[in-house]
Amino acid sequence: MGLLEGKVALITGASRGIGKAIALKYAAEGADIAFTDLVVNQDTVTEIAALGHKVKAYESNAADFEQTQQIVEQILADFGKIDILVNNAGITKDGLVMRMTEQQWDAVIAVNMKSAFNFMHAVVPAMARAKSGSIINMASIAGQMGNPGQVNYAATKAGLIAMAKSVAKEMGSRGIRANAIAPGFIVSDMTNALPEAVREEYIKQIPLKRGGTPEDIANAALFLASDLSSYITGQVIPVNGGLYC
Ligand code: NAI
Repeated sequence: MGLLEGKVALITGASRGIGKAIALKYAAEGADIAFTDLVVNQDTVTEIAALGHKVKAYESNAADFEQTQQIVEQILADFGKIDILVNNAGITKDGLVMRMTEQQWDAVIAVNMKSAFNFMHAVVPAMARAKSGSIINMASIAGQMGNPGQVNYAATKAGLIAMAKSVAKEMGSRGIRANAIAPGFIVSDMTNALPEAVREEYIKQIPLKRGGTPEDIANAALFLASDLSSYITGQVIPVNGGLYC
């Protein structure tokens, strides 16, 4: 029997990358999967469905409050419950603080951080009624140590950690756990967009001498979603090859 047999997981931004790896991992462990994305990749739906569990994808902008409330209502109608929420959707719009535009700042705050509020606000009442739930915020090493050119991104990722800690304290008595994962340098579309020299420089500094894989993150997300972590809440799990410790 899988670690997530009978559970329903909602993952934001799971058409590709880390979110997709988490969806596949959860489905392989027995969960039914609802995922959102700005643009749904039907190949991802097909890959998850091949693992033999229910999967449905919802096209939505995680930064939109009203849309999120409606999507979560729809998911609850389609699946009956939500046991696991992974706030994964995220973007970067980098720039040095003196050159960053207001639009770059606002967009990253909305997509990375407000989205997590939108989903937690919509999902927590159902989890509280069920007296059970696991919420996972996808933070970043940038939220722990800062990163030049990422004042907006780093702020949202530190915010996601603080949000997980706050919800852990608010909702622990109702059986809801909330934690964050802080990935380091993970090979994905997001980091493939960086110049080759910057990527090589990162790898040099990583004690384990490689970039992480989306599956490395999915393994931590599985642990936090499952009963293996039933006494862990309000924590941050760094998955960074030792880059920050
Ligand atoms: P990615 O860019 O490959 O995937 C992000 C997904 O989110 C895409 O499918 C995209 O369409 C979706 N998305 C973007 N804006 C959205 C919105 N407004 N509403 C709904 N969906 C939206 O990125 P990756 O690498 O898979 O990252 C996933 C998460 O992990 C992000 O939160 C990112 O900040 C975080 N992370 C990634 C690291 C890396 O090295 N790749 C390191 C640390 C954290």
